[in-house]
Amino acid sequence: MKALVLSGGSGTRLRPLTHTSPKQLVPVANKPVLYYVLEDIARAGITEVGIVVGDTAFEIHEAVGDGSKFGLHVTYLPQEKPLGLAHAVLIARDFLGDNDFVMYLGDSFVVDGIGGLLDEFRADRADARILLTRVPDPSVFGVAEVADDGRILGLEEKPARPKSNMAAVGVYLFTPVVHQAVRAIEPSRRGELEITHAIQWLIDTRHDVRSTVVHGYWKDTGDALGMLEANRFVLESVEPRSEGTVDADSEVVGRVRIEAGAQIRGSRVVGPAVIGCNTVISGSYIGPYTSIAENCQVQDTEIEYSIVLRDAHLDGVSRVKASLIGRNASVTPAPRNPASNRLILGDHSEVQISS
Ligand code: DAU
Repeated sequence: MKALVLSGGSGTRLRPLTHTSPKQLVPVANKPVLYYVLEDIARAGITEVGIVVGDTAFEIHEAVGDGSKFGLHVTYLPQEKPLGLAHAVLIARDFLGDNDFVMYLGDSFVVDGIGGLLDEFRADRADARILLTRVPDPSVFGVAEVADDGRILGLEEKPARPKSNMAAVGVYLFTPVVHQAVRAIEPSRRGELEITHAIQWLIDTRHDVRSTVVHGYWKDTGDALGMLEANRFVLESVEPRSEGTVDADSEVVGRVRIEAGAQIRGSRVVGPAVIGCNTVISGSYIGPYTSIAENCQVQDTEIEYSIVLRDAHLDGVSRVKASLIGRNASVTPAPRNPASNRLILGDHSEVQISS
């Protein structure tokens, strides 16, 4: 069995962070989402991985290299444009050969991993098996109609009137018959070769398509709230350890990982939280579910349930909550006189000011 990881495309919903970095590399608990995907694949015993890359090929390549640090052998598969998930399968034909494969979206976060899905696939080797979960707003997903025995009766891409609340969550297992399907379908209204249409083609041509349901264990990492929730989930099980320094005037409570070279001075850190390499926290309160990446400066600030990316600078900010702060961003108090808010925001930024 091989794995096909999709890391092309362009991140639109998470724009402020993905203008300058691929969405697959946005960190959850200070680790890129894509690393969790690759670790999950390695844990499942798969070693041959093809990564589909687009405009951000360089960054993905820099982050993953030849895959050896994950125990994987990685082949990069350039996709000229994000022409759809089924198009990615089309261009991976030579790499995949006649192997069964797992297709894993590189921005997906499946907390419980793909082990259970693979076990079920190995037991019955249906023509295809997809991972589903129940969601409140199915219209932004591929939506499945499922029989009582788990067989998929139909699948629609982002339907205006969804027939169920069961959404495809970014992991698909295929036998080589899918190659016929991706060749048979036409581009959708949004101009993409949709994997949902390829799976519908399999159903229409009487192939056996089944599902495995994960219960509330997945987080879409394509939007800000999803990122924060995925971060919260991972931080819940962070191993407390300190490779940095904590001075006598500081208090560290609960599950907190302090990475190499980080310094905590005169501060209170309440886990779960991670503090990245060489970050300096001084005179601050870092509350639960916060990830602060490497080389940040956080001074006289209170922050919780937030993600701060590398090289950011927060100074004198009384309360930051449920926030994503990008690389090299700077947050400082406004001048007191005249009282005003001073904002220099990148395109598509979002700010909520309490006043
Ligand atoms: O997240 C689950 C959903 O993923 C499914 O429910 C949908 O059925 C499926 O179509 C897909 O929907 P999205 O519109 O959210 O997919 P997105 O464009 O965000 O792409 C998913 C990943 O695949 C992302 O890491 C980028 C990558 N990708 C995407 C396209 C369109 C590629 O590598 N190549 C592509 O051509």
